[in-house]
Amino acid sequence: MSNEFKEEIIARTEHMEQVIEHYLPQEEGCQRTVIEAMNYSIKAGGKRLRPMLMWETYKMFGGRSKVIEPFMAAIEMIHTYSLVHDDLPAMDNDEFRRGKKTTHAQYGEAMGILAGDGLLNYAFETAAKAFTIEPGNVQVGKALSVLAGKAGIHGMLGGQCVDVESEGKPVTEETLRFIYHLKTGALLEASMMIGAILAGATGSEQKKVEQAAGELGLAFQIQDDVLDVTSTTEDLGKPVGSDEKNHKTTWVTLFGVDKAKQDVEELSKHSVSLMDALVVKNEFLTRLMLELVHRKK
Ligand code: IPE
Ligand code: IPE
Ligand code: MG
Ligand code: MG
Ligand code: MG
Repeated sequence: MSNEFKEEIIARTEHMEQVIEHYLPQEEGCQRTVIEAMNYSIKAGGKRLRPMLMWETYKMFGGRSKVIEPFMAAIEMIHTYSLVHDDLPAMDNDEFRRGKKTTHAQYGEAMGILAGDGLLNYAFETAAKAFTIEPGNVQVGKALSVLAGKAGIHGMLGGQCVDVESEGKPVTEETLRFIYHLKTGALLEASMMIGAILAGATGSEQKKVEQAAGELGLAFQIQDDVLDVTSTTEDLGKPVGSDEKNHKTTWVTLFGVDKAKQDVEELSKHSVSLMDALVVKNEFLTRLMLELVHRKK
């Protein structure tokens, strides 16, 4: 990655941090422990990829208002909740995330569950603030419904269901694609679709963006599987070997590391080619999508 592009990512990540920080709940009241646990998990960091994809897609389609900002914070809250719950003892049972102890390891299991629930709910309280920013914007309702759908039983949550049910069992490529499309692809689809929707993209443009984001999600999850066996806990900020420990079938166990890496590259390129077919362009966005192939964390 060129130094110039690295600088661009750093500047954009800083912007994401500011937007997210602005919408975090105040740590006050008798229930402050759960709010502290929510903020702990969000403030631990992360690449902020989903808000970044949302923002860049929004700009790509000509969006210029602050109406996108509550949605940027909301998608990161939902993503972070999915990680907090994914790490719970009953799920992947991991004690390290974003370079820190996981939320349940820091605050106890009950508070880990509640912090995840809190983030999910607060995400919708936050996204609904878009109604006060632009009361007359009919796209806000559509964006909310995409956010809800892609996070739920037909999206991320549905994927997590099949993921945990498949532990220790033989899994076909078809099932694995289903799991990855939902558990990881759905939130990337929501990110990019909401950017497109709020910027006023047409229905057919929204469909293309959804498809591109879905393929990017598949590539992103396969790369996550690769890093689980090739990286180090220090670089990743989460434990390597988590998939083997949980007897997960992954793209790597099915096809091997080399084929997995090749598929990440091909899927990413294809995803970018779908974006290139659109009339509007965002060079940073397509570059970002391609660079994810080489990510180390
Ligand atoms: C991790 O997501 C979970 C997957 C879907 C693979 P990220 O790799 O985006 O995690 P953060 O947000 O940077 O911590
Ligand atoms: C998680 O997949 C996807 C989510 C919806 C959280 P993984 O279980 O592989 O994610 P990591 O590796 O723990 O981040
Ligand atoms: Mg998992
Ligand atoms: Mg996990
Ligand atoms: Mg993983």
